[in-house]
Amino acid sequence: MKRAVTVAQVRGLLAELRGAGAGVSFVPTMGGLHEGHASLVERARQAAPAVVLSVFVNPLQFGPDEDLAAYPRDPQRDARLAQEWGVAVLFTPSSEFLPAEGGVRLDPGPLGGRLEGAVRPDHFRGVLTIVAKLLNVVRPDVAVFGQKDLQQAVLVRHMVRDLDVPVRIDVGATVREPDGLALSSRNAYLTAAERADAPALQRALLVGEAALLSGQREPGRVREAIVRALDETPSLHPDYVAVLRAEDLAESSLAHGPTALLAAARLGRTRLIDNRIVDVGGAS
Ligand code: PAJ
Repeated sequence: MKRAVTVAQVRGLLAELRGAGAGVSFVPTMGGLHEGHASLVERARQAAPAVVLSVFVNPLQFGPDEDLAAYPRDPQRDARLAQEWGVAVLFTPSSEFLPAEGGVRLDPGPLGGRLEGAVRPDHFRGVLTIVAKLLNVVRPDVAVFGQKDLQQAVLVRHMVRDLDVPVRIDVGATVREPDGLALSSRNAYLTAAERADAPALQRALLVGEAALLSGQREPGRVREAIVRALDETPSLHPDYVAVLRAEDLAESSLAHGPTALLAAARLGRTRLIDNRIVDVGGAS
């Protein structure tokens, strides 16, 4: 595994790889690596064999009261895992990678202000700005994101479409613990009691999925079923619950085709997000 810290280094290594004829895939992360990240690396490898993995805890996407300082950082462990996973280039930029203060930032558009964006106002601006920079530096053939952060994946697709970024965006399934909790670097914050309650978020989404699959097509009704299920776990404080068209997270009066059930909730000092996509078939 080759390692790069500066933009010049990563560009040099990628020129070598491309010169050798290798297709390049890319998995951006903030570290605290887990099996969810591993599954994206595996997916990336299948799309293009030379996998670039970045680890950068991006301050631009954290709000002033968020967990930037506490975010799990273990560069040695991350590097060991990246090596085990067969990553070709590990890119770990320093804070020099940040764009100039007061400089250019990407505007995610209206979707950036809804759902996660309603709770975390500048979050997607920070995400898209750093993802655009990473894509410009790595110039991969394919970049892989997780469905776990569905709104992020949709916004990255929109950015690539609207700015004609020459990359294919691929989205990998959410990897879960045996009890259904979606893997997340932030799960490390959970106390034992919170960890026991955490799968309730996913269970509530399954209640919504069951409602859709049993023929309920009114998004409002499906949403209510999820909210009621969440109410059964008083330690979970929902930020939002939504039932939307999966492709672009638009509202629809009647659910049809791939439909996303999304929820976010606070549990102690941890914020959990999760979603499921259900294909409910054509409108009847
Ligand atoms: P991070 O939270 O480290 O996630 C990196 C990638 O892993 C994202 O695409 C995310 O959706 C995916 N991921 C997280 N948990 C997963 C799980 N349980 N199963 C499958 N994939 C999972 O998302 C970010 O970092 C940042 O916003 C980033 C895109 C790197 C920009 O800073």
